[in-house]
Amino acid sequence: MKRILITGGAGFLGSHLCERLLADGNEVICADNFFTGSKRNIIHLLANPYFELIRHDVTFPLYVEVDEIYNLACPASPVNYQFDPVQTLKTSVHGAINMLGLAKRVKARILQASTSEVYGDPEVHPQTESYWGKVNPIGIRSCYDEGKRCAETLFFDYHRQHGVAIKVARIFNTYGPRMQPNDGRVVSNFIVQALRGDPITIYGEGQQTRSFCYVDDLVDGLVGLMATQGAVTGPVNLGNPVEFTIRQLAERILALTGSSSELIFRPLPQDDPQQRQPNISLAKQLMGWEPMVMLDQGLEKTISYFDQLLGEAGPSSRGEG
Ligand SMILES: NC(=O)c1ccc[n+]([C@@H]2O[C@H](COP(=O)([O-])OP(=O)(O)OC[C@H]3O[C@@H](n4cnc5c(N)ncnc54)[C@H](O)[C@@H]3O)[C@@H](O)[C@H]2O)c1
Repeated sequence: MKRILITGGAGFLGSHLCERLLADGNEVICADNFFTGSKRNIIHLLANPYFELIRHDVTFPLYVEVDEIYNLACPASPVNYQFDPVQTLKTSVHGAINMLGLAKRVKARILQASTSEVYGDPEVHPQTESYWGKVNPIGIRSCYDEGKRCAETLFFDYHRQHGVAIKVARIFNTYGPRMQPNDGRVVSNFIVQALRGDPITIYGEGQQTRSFCYVDDLVDGLVGLMATQGAVTGPVNLGNPVEFTIRQLAERILALTGSSSELIFRPLPQDDPQQRQPNISLAKQLMGWEPMVMLDQGLEKTISYFDQLLGEAGPSSRGEG
């Protein structure tokens, strides 16, 4: 049994990771300041004697004896990370320094939840880990993109300078139950709009492409990467390489929900990437990992989660009554 710290463990990805690591027979400590996460996401774990919850902001040091650290704390959607950009940067940068300092002290392995956003608006398609990215350092998305880039730098410097055992995962768009209903991420946005019968908002013409990875596949990838031999540091892309246009996504969601919502088009936000698709050859080679869940299968589970959530919130949340 390992003792494992998950920062951001009450968030969307973190809560699934807590579940998975407990199910694998580990002791899990979840540290979260509940900025975008919630107790609801982990309430079913609170009675488990091997699960511990700490209200903690990673911009402050934390002292716990652990064998592994998954550093997921950071708001992930533009609505949330642009709410307080300075705090977002602090979370990525000071959070990385604090968690790397802890890993160094207790000799823990540490995995960073980095992002495909480190590639910015890429000129290379699909993106391989060797591509350095094209990122605007002063735009409204920079607090997130540059914060995550700086965190990667810190991981590699702690590794080179202090011998810390690091793993860096570059996560591409992931979706599933426990995403927030109104955080502006495309899958949750479209599902909620479709379930409410509201118009589905597409930015630009909907021809920009994205790849969508179901959360269970992503969690397998994170756990697999942590288990790779010591010499493997990453960065490693984790995502689903199957590409869809935003318009195709909207149409799948309309079909699966049986909604008659209309599609409406709005101007593209600044620095919105046109294409995003991971090359996952490295993840396949290192750990035989590739996503298994098809888009329709994952969407069905996500739709049923939001259907229940909106149902609990009452008829007005569905646009009824
Ligand atoms: N979901 C995706 O598609 C995706 C893609 C790329 C990268 N990631 C990364 O994965 C991680 C988890 O993302 P998510 O989608 O679960 O987002 P999320 O917003 O649901 O989870 C982030 C969690 O971190 C917590 N948090 C934020 N600031 C904190 C702080 N200062 N101290 C302690 N806790 C803090 C939040 O309360 C929340 O529980 C993030 O680091 C994100 O950048 C996610």
